[in-house]
Amino acid sequence: MDRQTISHLAHAHHPIASPISGTNLNRLLRRARLGPDARILDLGCGQAVWSVRLLELYRDATADGVDLSDAGFEAAWELAVGAEVASRLSLHLGSAAEFTAAEPYDLVLCVGATHAFGGLGATMEAINGLLAPGGLALVGEGFWDRPPSEELEAEVGTYPDLSGTVAEAEAAGYRTVYAHVSERDEWYDYEFSWTGSLMDWALRNPGADGDAAMAAALEHRKMWLDGYRDRLGFVTLVLRRTP
Ligand SMILES: C[S@@+](CC[C@H](N)C(=O)[O-])C[C@H]1O[C@@H](n2cnc3c(N)ncnc32)[C@H](O)[C@@H]1O
Repeated sequence: MDRQTISHLAHAHHPIASPISGTNLNRLLRRARLGPDARILDLGCGQAVWSVRLLELYRDATADGVDLSDAGFEAAWELAVGAEVASRLSLHLGSAAEFTAAEPYDLVLCVGATHAFGGLGATMEAINGLLAPGGLALVGEGFWDRPPSEELEAEVGTYPDLSGTVAEAEAAGYRTVYAHVSERDEWYDYEFSWTGSLMDWALRNPGADGDAAMAAALEHRKMWLDGYRDRLGFVTLVLRRTP
């Protein structure tokens, strides 16, 4: 069973693929205060939950979602059709780093997908080339809230602390106009949804795929419970480009 299928099953009950509640997602998106006919780009869109919600909030906006995998696209279309915004959403299969567009965007999102560009700084540089003057970037990224052991850092990733994360995001010519730091409840809801949905699927699908799904869920849960739990933070930054 490939990683994309595991991730798709794990997000069955928490389609936002980050530790963020629906309420806080809405609050972040309202802060964008987009103007008429806004153009939105969602890099590493997954099931396009952020884009669909934006299209609901901003009724004349259009959105392009880009993802390396189409594992979430069917769910994205179902969501978009249900929200009656499908005619304003386009999904593109491919690498975010290679995506180009004829016209710039008013809002570029990259939530939980900065690895597509090789890290936060490189993501902000790439967004520079896609954003209209004065446009907004909405970027979700992990940070170490408490210093990790060397072993944990090697397992989970190298990140700065919150202050270093804000500085890295702003270095490419932005100012943070709002931010949300995921709360403990949001982390616990996300992680137990991730591992729980996968375990539930594994129990209902005995066989090789079920075994693979259960093994992935147990490995992930151990890494969270005994590793990055209450140490890794997640911040979603709303950044405006400086003139
Ligand atoms: C953690 S998920 C985040 C999904 C979505 N942004 C959200 O918050 O719900 C990361 C997504 O990035 C996608 N991804 C990973 N590498 C990518 C790349 N090089 N180009 C485009 N998408 C990529 C994955 O397929 C996955 O859907």
